Amino acid sequence: MIKAASRLDGIGEYYFSTKLREIEELNKAGKNIISLGIGSPDLPPHPDVIKVLQEETSKANVHAYQSYKGSPVLRQAISDWYGKWYGVQLNPDSEILPLIGSKEGIMHICMTYLNPGDEVLLPNPGYPTYKSAVALAGGIGVDYTLDEAHNWEPDFETLEQKDLSKVKLMWVNYPQMPTGKLPSAKLFSKIVDFGKKHNILICHDNPYSFILNDKPASIMSVPGARDIVLELNSLSKSQNMAGWRIGMLVGSAERINEVLRFKSNMDSGMFLPVQLAAAKALGLGKDWYDELNKIYTTRRKKVFALLDSLRCKYDRNQAGMFVWASIPDSEESGYTLSDKVLYQANVFITPGGIFGSAGEKYVRVSLCCKEENIDRAMERITKSL
Ligand SMILES: Cc1ncc(COP(=O)(O)O)c(C=O)c1O
Repeated sequence: MIKAASRLDGIGEYYFSTKLREIEELNKAGKNIISLGIGSPDLPPHPDVIKVLQEETSKANVHAYQSYKGSPVLRQAISDWYGKWYGVQLNPDSEILPLIGSKEGIMHICMTYLNPGDEVLLPNPGYPTYKSAVALAGGIGVDYTLDEAHNWEPDFETLEQKDLSKVKLMWVNYPQMPTGKLPSAKLFSKIVDFGKKHNILICHDNPYSFILNDKPASIMSVPGARDIVLELNSLSKSQNMAGWRIGMLVGSAERINEVLRFKSNMDSGMFLPVQLAAAKALGLGKDWYDELNKIYTTRRKKVFALLDSLRCKYDRNQAGMFVWASIPDSEESGYTLSDKVLYQANVFITPGGIFGSAGEKYVRVSLCCKEENIDRAMERITKSL
């Protein structure tokens, strides 16, 4: 009998992978489910970006393997982008590593730094991939709770009381997914101080800073952050390029080289036309982000109304492409509310519990859905629930 490796014990298929299969079955049975679940932008990238891809692809000399470190054009574009929007100066030759998606980068970091038994602090609620990447790399995930009472920020006083001697790494992510909590300069400083004090590598995951937020921020702007922080960023959300798989890792030259030692054994670089198109996307001006955010703002108003009809409560000042909302007392959990909405109204919203136990009394609604479909979802919900 062939048995999967024991490192997969306890690692299930990704929630959305199974749920989307169920939704497909419901659709085959004629249900025509409206999905307000996943955060995959439905809008296209800028036409100039597509044009670069098309033009570059038709050239004869772009089809070979590319450098493991990424094209210098893309690294320069990333450096310029960090300088322009975050006020962070990065050396394009040594402090930037383009990635085939930032999700992949989470795994690269865990494989680069974790030995069996090393502990990793994980946000609860948080992006589920942190936990599985840590487990796959042989580490031990230790949850730190985020709650509304503490403004969805780590409770450093409680953390300081724990035995942190085995903690090697901490995952943080602001604007936070799923809660939509925005970072403050003070929060970023506190996180950096905490990492330095306990010699914990801070891994900041920053894919949402441009969505419904007019002050994009990077933890790298904290003086001295480079000594203890790695930051992941992505073109998936802010450039509508989720399927293209383009992300980036930034940090000190030493850290970037360490991660490259692992990554260069995993993949053989990214298709050059994709990298050149990504460089184009990073050069887009403020009007690109303004236009995007105008659309998300209109959609969000409709999602607020939909959540009102479910008697859910939410903070109106959230960033990112979701609305995070607490369920009414009458509802047992986000799972029961999500199932009710799915089976009675043919609308899918994500139960907050998939992001960790601290999310069980919440649901998350995606803004990656056309206005008219949010309207139809609202109609179905008000009619059938
Ligand atoms: C918090 C967070 N980090 C990382 C990712 C992965 O993004 P990418 O498409 O760059 O792999 C996602 C995607 O949903 C996310 O929500």
